Amino acid sequence: MSQNVAPTVDHSWIPNGPPRPAVSFLVVSASLRKDSFNSRLARLVARIVGDRGGTAALGEMNAFTPPPYNQDLENKSGLPPEAVEFCRRIEENDAFIIVSPEYNASVPGHLKNVIDWASRKRPQPFHTRHSLLLSASPSMVGGNRGLWALRIPLEHLGARVYPDMFSLAQAHTAFKPDGTLADPDLAARLEGTIVSFMDLVEAAKHYACIKKDWFEFLGERPDPMFDRVE
Ligand code: FNR
Repeated sequence: MSQNVAPTVDHSWIPNGPPRPAVSFLVVSASLRKDSFNSRLARLVARIVGDRGGTAALGEMNAFTPPPYNQDLENKSGLPPEAVEFCRRIEENDAFIIVSPEYNASVPGHLKNVIDWASRKRPQPFHTRHSLLLSASPSMVGGNRGLWALRIPLEHLGARVYPDMFSLAQAHTAFKPDGTLADPDLAARLEGTIVSFMDLVEAAKHYACIKKDWFEFLGERPDPMFDRVE
């Protein structure tokens, strides 16, 4: 299920510039839980993106949860529909935002699993795509360690993971009934992080001169046999 938020953008401030389409963001809460704090934060993120001139589509993790990766299964039937849908939703937006719980100081297994499935798709949906990571948890760490773990497979696959991240600690007391954050300093930090990320994605989309490829250097000589970049 997707929900589009605030699809219109005011371009009148651009002097003599052609109208530019709004930048689009897929916002995924990686929790499967009905009353999830991460889903609450994801809805707030989507609202801020819309308020600040982007379009945001919410992605449901339940729709992106294939069976555990198994190469026999892949050889037999290719990617399962949930992984195909995950890739499709990533590809149809300019950038993606993941709001993820931390499980045992790392990435929830179901999220890593769909990333592993998606890594088998060609062309690679993550490659050169910008992403922002957030987390929420009732704990004092706010799920931040899980985001560092999540960066590893995403960056390995060529995603441009935004350096700043946002982790909401004590999430069970953090929200007001209208879904915004109770603490004004935290609310400003969240909004600032999202707007900076939006500015980067906007620049990457509309100013081709800043588009550059970059590569992991792992010590091996470039060789098409090993090159993950296609
Ligand atoms: C957790 N939780 C948790 N929290 C945290 O801050 N660091 C952690 O390492 C873990 N580990 C962990 C493992 C497992 C298996 C569970 C079920 C939970 C607590 C977790 O943050 C809490 O349940 C959140 O409410 C989960 O996010 P949602 O579902 O509310 O979005």
